[in-house]
Amino acid sequence: MNESPGPSRWISLCPLDEISIGRARYLEAVDRPLCVVRVGETDAAVFDDSCPHAGGPLSGGHVEDGCLVCPLHQWPFRLADGICADTSVFRVRKYTCRVRDGVVEMAAPESR
Ligand code: FES
Repeated sequence: MNESPGPSRWISLCPLDEISIGRARYLEAVDRPLCVVRVGETDAAVFDDSCPHAGGPLSGGHVEDGCLVCPLHQWPFRLADGICADTSVFRVRKYTCRVRDGVVEMAAPESR
């Protein structure tokens, strides 16, 4: 899930161990609500916190079969790319992230 540094600067989000494996947490950074998912012992993924179906808080969801499952209507969004595994039409924005020294960091997006 971690990706190589791009041209962006890195922004610290939160310690990985503040999130249970397979769960997510809400936080705000770069002027937007984010969903930080703990994928395993050492991996994370970062998405917009708004579900593209009806705006559900993805940070209240859980990981299942390689997807982040929305808590409202259980649509699954692939951790790899944010595409809805059921419809492939809907997609949640995913941000480049990494875990360094136990802290989840995201690459500053170049534009919204
Ligand atoms: S709001 Fe997320 S599945 Fe409906």
